[in-house]
Amino acid sequence: MAEHLVTPWEVKGDIDYEKLVKEFGVEKISDKLLERIQKHTKEIHFMLRRKVFFSHRDLKWLLDEYEKGNKFFLYTGRAPSGPIHLGHLLPWIMCKWLQDKFDVEMWFQFPNEEKFLFKKELSFEKAQEALNENILDVIALGFDPKKTHFLIDTKHADLFYEHACKVAKKITFNMVKASFGLDDSTNIGAIFYTSMQAVPAFLPSVLKGKNIPCLIPLGVDQDPHFRLTRDIMPKLGYYKPSIIHSMFLPPLSGVEGKTSSSSSDKNVILTTDSPKEVKNKINKYAFSGGQPTLEEHRKKGGNPDIDVCFQYLRMLLEEDDKKLEQIYKDYKSGKLLTGELKKYTIDKINEFLKKHQEKREKAKKKINDFIYKK
Ligand code: TRP
Repeated sequence: MAEHLVTPWEVKGDIDYEKLVKEFGVEKISDKLLERIQKHTKEIHFMLRRKVFFSHRDLKWLLDEYEKGNKFFLYTGRAPSGPIHLGHLLPWIMCKWLQDKFDVEMWFQFPNEEKFLFKKELSFEKAQEALNENILDVIALGFDPKKTHFLIDTKHADLFYEHACKVAKKITFNMVKASFGLDDSTNIGAIFYTSMQAVPAFLPSVLKGKNIPCLIPLGVDQDPHFRLTRDIMPKLGYYKPSIIHSMFLPPLSGVEGKTSSSSSDKNVILTTDSPKEVKNKINKYAFSGGQPTLEEHRKKGGNPDIDVCFQYLRMLLEEDDKKLEQIYKDYKSGKLLTGELKKYTIDKINEFLKKHQEKREKAKKKINDFIYKK
């Protein structure tokens, strides 16, 4: 098995989440912790139940504070560089659910300079085109405009800069090198960047003049940023932010690793794909856990654990546990064929995307309601 690599800039190899928990020094989300969340939320989101969100930092402390009446706010983000695919949606769907269940504010950062700084070939203008598109996908997920604030790094630079400098003063080049694998040839914008990503974890506290706990749902590759941030925030007088980490939705090829839109649009389902594109991509590219021939499949059964369609159902599309279990069993026994599983998944994706695309269209008129205004 290839060694995995998980950094904010690169995710490679067969990701071993157990190992990652040890490497990153995070805690697994236990059933006991889920029960504690459920006391407040009544139900428990399937992504939590199925441990798609598998680990955390200081979630117990966050709940202690909440139970004392000290509400938290949510923070997550998206650095625009290209289109949104299904994998990007996992933390955002979780944020929407948490916002509804805990009735909390959500701060969403669009670091519109990040990918410009890190990707040699990306122009600033191209990143802004992506920004305008990406914003629509976030709004389409249904966040409450009264409780949701978008921060765009260059647009809100006056809010960010002072605080980014306060963070930056506590980070040496050596620390950034060690955390992110940067080196002497890295441009100085990229070296500074992590201090921009730290700011929204305490900006609401600054703006409201009181210390507010923060919960960051994120893809686990983003954790290194907040390891640094968590060390620094108490030094600036703020709580350490809590974090919940999600796994990566696999790319269609099933090659282990994060679903990366930059690798190839063929290898992912984009939120703007048509029903026909979805059908073609799944049929052509979705890695299957089935047997090579129908006879063999009927006899030996398939392997849902490595089947990309099954993973899409488990991690994102099939909310019904009973249905999912039936599919698992039937695929494993050979009763359900690969073609049938693919058809079911295609229909599920298209059903999801039809609604998403309608809401995405309507979002064009709502952008202004979400951008933070001082
Ligand atoms: N760096 C993230 C990306 O590459 C964007 C981001 C900004 C983010 N702030 C965040 C992600 C907070 C998770 C949590 O898309």
